[in-house]
Amino acid sequence: MLNKLSVKIGLLFFLVIIIVEITLFYILYTNLVNDRVEEVMGDLLARGNTHRDVLEENYTASTLNHVAIMESESDFIVVITNDAGETITSSNPIEPEMTAVIEHKDHDGIPDEGVILQSDWSNEKYVSTDSPITINETHRGHVFMFAESANIKRIIGQLSQQFLFVGLLIIFLTIITVLILSRVIAQPLLRMKKATEQLSRGNHEVELYTNRKDELGELATSISRLSKDLERLKNERNEFLGSISHELRTPLTYMKGYTDIISRKDVSVKDRNKYIKIIQEETGHLTELIKNLFELAKIDQNEFSIKKEKIIYGELLHTVKARIQPAIDERKIKLSVFCPDNLVVSVDPERIQQVLLNILDNAIKYTPKGSNIGMEVSQNKHEILTTISDTGAGIPEEDIPYVFERLYRSEKSRSRSNGGSGLGLTIAKEIVQLHGGKIELESTPGKGAVFIISLQKGDTNEESFID
Ligand SMILES: Nc1ncnc2c1ncn2[C@@H]1O[C@H](COP(=O)(O)OP(=O)(O)OP(=O)(O)O)[C@@H](O)[C@H]1O
Ligand SMILES: [Mg+2]
Repeated sequence: MLNKLSVKIGLLFFLVIIIVEITLFYILYTNLVNDRVEEVMGDLLARGNTHRDVLEENYTASTLNHVAIMESESDFIVVITNDAGETITSSNPIEPEMTAVIEHKDHDGIPDEGVILQSDWSNEKYVSTDSPITINETHRGHVFMFAESANIKRIIGQLSQQFLFVGLLIIFLTIITVLILSRVIAQPLLRMKKATEQLSRGNHEVELYTNRKDELGELATSISRLSKDLERLKNERNEFLGSISHELRTPLTYMKGYTDIISRKDVSVKDRNKYIKIIQEETGHLTELIKNLFELAKIDQNEFSIKKEKIIYGELLHTVKARIQPAIDERKIKLSVFCPDNLVVSVDPERIQQVLLNILDNAIKYTPKGSNIGMEVSQNKHEILTTISDTGAGIPEEDIPYVFERLYRSEKSRSRSNGGSGLGLTIAKEIVQLHGGKIELESTPGKGAVFIISLQKGDTNEESFID
């Protein structure tokens, strides 16, 4: 239960808000209470001072009596003493708690505006003030005012009740807000958790509809995209496995068929040799296919390492040309190579040779005898471009997006007879990408195909040439 995100968020919010609220309430409450007490004490003192002023004007028995009668009807108590400290008159009977206060008779240090004698309303029964009476600069006694602490307690009690009510209301509202908030945050996360569980169970068609534009919305979109990617990968894998088994079965069927024929007694030596040659060729294709598959598997598992070194590109191109020369000669093809002198590239020479050989091998295979193939290197500010063009049949427009895919051949039967398995360009593309470059194809059917390999230049321009 405590491990649930919604509960965690909820509790955290709740604690923080409650702590803030309690602190604010405490400050507000103490300030209000102090204000109220100060107000009551101020009133009490002002009342005593008023009586004192009246008495200073008119210090007679009837005035004294009048003051006492007036206060006997109010919530306050007045006690008037003479300069000897004896009580002359009081509005109510004097209680023991009052005597200690009244007993002080000196007026030293008591200012004319009076003093608050007792303001400790929480412990004492009465709060009190003292206003000294001075007539013609002679001290004539004191006007003591008392108020019951219970009155103040009542006022404070009411205040506390109001605070309690508002406090409870706020806690209630806080709980509701926290509940809504934690649900708003946790609910989509729960949906996403369910979705990812489904993904791991193999149900890849998970769709998380959300209008949210925040991080949670982005996460939901990412999960939906992930599910689509997984579905696509699953389909691709199935298709790939299907094609592979087909690719492996076909040559094996041929080989089985021909070995059956060879093992028959009535086969002439000439036919036997012909069939053995076919079997040899098919074995060669199979070996090539398995080698390529192995290479792709290594690329997929990131085990295919690229060891870049700085080489003169023109030299590499001529090595490639030399390697492909026998095939060119056989098909009477003219291969022209152009590369700027001393152009330096930072590549894995073996791998880039493999790329160029794969593309040139296609150009030779899919171009009629006696045509032209060009391999040309140019450069711009950031890239070195290698363009390989042929004058063959080209690639149909609808096939262009797929030629780099695994096992893709635009004309299955023709390529088969040429021994192609549809992996050459896939490997070429992966190698170029591992170099941080890209490979593009432009083709006009009937006019030939053009492959453009773009490789990033080194950090500085000067690096591209050796002086
Ligand atoms: N220069 C080209 N002219 C016409 N078609 C081409 C050319 N290069 C590639 N293709 C088409 O693209 C397909 C894929 O090429 P890719 O090199 O990947 O496979 P492949 O040559 O059939 O087999 P592999 O290279 O594995 O022996 C070829 O089967 C062919 O149909
Ligand atoms: Mg090929």
